Amino acid sequence: MPLVSTKEMFEKAYKGGYAIGAFNVNNMEIIQGIVDAGKEEQAPLILQVSAGARKYAKHVYLVKLVEAALEDSDLPIALHLDHGDSFELCKDCVDGGFTSVMIDGSKYEYKENVALTKKVVEYAHAHGVVVEAELGRLAGVEDDVKVSDKDALFTDPEQAAEFVAATGVDSLAIAIGTSHGAYKFKGDPYLDFERLEKVGKLLPGFPIVLHGASSVLPEFVKKCNEFGGNIPGAKGVPEEMLHKAAGMAVCKINIDTDLRLAMTASIREVLMQNPAEFDPRKYLGPGRDAIKAMVQHKIKDVLGCSHKI
Ligand code: G3H
Ligand code: 13P
Ligand code: ZN
Repeated sequence: MPLVSTKEMFEKAYKGGYAIGAFNVNNMEIIQGIVDAGKEEQAPLILQVSAGARKYAKHVYLVKLVEAALEDSDLPIALHLDHGDSFELCKDCVDGGFTSVMIDGSKYEYKENVALTKKVVEYAHAHGVVVEAELGRLAGVEDDVKVSDKDALFTDPEQAAEFVAATGVDSLAIAIGTSHGAYKFKGDPYLDFERLEKVGKLLPGFPIVLHGASSVLPEFVKKCNEFGGNIPGAKGVPEEMLHKAAGMAVCKINIDTDLRLAMTASIREVLMQNPAEFDPRKYLGPGRDAIKAMVQHKIKDVLGCSHKI
């Protein structure tokens, strides 16, 4: 099956009350682990490439690896640019075979974000590629933060509706309390579901994206720390919250940190237990297996997208 767009995936996910996992990919083992999980669960997949991943592995290698994944599976797979920060980067990915791009103009003023997003949408749509944009600041917010601070950081639902109408974008990442990386909350985890509900009401049927959605699974943090790592205080988004969001307007849930932790925990374990080991297959293989098991759990127990191809 050729690469697909996310359009149909999101239509089905919205109606079905589930979300598609968007997993960040950087090398062959990560792609294989994710795709093997998708095959077991018969789940649609979004494989996403950041600017950093593209720099690390090179565009052509990642595209060819994803082409291999298509040959190796009968799954609907979309290839997506994660956090594109310029028109030129988005254009390169549209021209270079991606079926979806994100233009992240969230650091700009509203008007500038609209203008940049609109420019990317015009180019991408003319080439049959869908576009995700972002509105709001993806920063962790403390429990005792004032409501006015939340309003300043989080996405304003009215402005989100205005933004979608003004840009013609196909999906929108919003800020409701998640953030990137392994240290998301100092206090209790908190997501602004009321805000998400308002967005859903103002944009009926429109797919919302949740970035920074790793759960920072304690088993992997514990294992990393047990085998020579030092990542204390890491905390992520509880899986029940992700499941709830997937039942609302959220159709795409972005996961990178959980992949990194699963792979690193397993590599640390192998190398600490076998200090004489120096065959990369002996630690990258278990790393790939750990990714497969973690992604399968996300698909089945959290996102709800098993058997939705
Ligand atoms: O949201 C960012 C992703 O986790 C990608 O991270 O830019 O280090 O590849 P990266
Ligand atoms: P995490 O750091 O929570 O995995 O978020 C990944 C992400 O949003 C990629 O765009
Ligand atoms: Zn992100």
